[in-house]
Amino acid sequence: MSRLKELRKYVDEELNKIEDADKRTSAIAHLYGVSLAATLIAKKRGLNPEIAAMAAMLHDLYAYKSGSYDDHAHKGAYLAGDILEELNLTDDAETEEICSAIYHHDDKLVTDGPMDEVLKDADVIDHCLKDSSKPVKEKEQVRFDKLCSEFGI
Ligand SMILES: [Fe+2]
Ligand SMILES: [Fe+2]
Repeated sequence: MSRLKELRKYVDEELNKIEDADKRTSAIAHLYGVSLAATLIAKKRGLNPEIAAMAAMLHDLYAYKSGSYDDHAHKGAYLAGDILEELNLTDDAETEEICSAIYHHDDKLVTDGPMDEVLKDADVIDHCLKDSSKPVKEKEQVRFDKLCSEFGI
């Protein structure tokens, strides 16, 4: 089994504990949507698509488990570190790269490291394209416009 598949198996089990069916569906759709977008963006930028996808699968897990978005990026980075240590799928540098991306993913108005930016952009793509009839949020507009020009859309 690939390590991405192994991580998804773990995340799926956690998401399946969400009792509310609508919340469960939207959590699954978001993590898989961001994971696909992160893969695409990482490939385009010459970064590791597997690490990007793994970061995406974990990025909002803390919020879904706790039911709160309060400081979920920072708390989620620590949760991701614990999960990756338990699953033993990544080396120290990869764990650090994934946790850093999750730690910074809510800071959409500043620019961080290359993999941090992949996760932020993937999150924005999922927010903006899962229902393109909805207006883009003000705090995501600049980032979304840059992505559209990067991808020629
Ligand atoms: Fe988030
Ligand atoms: Fe997200």
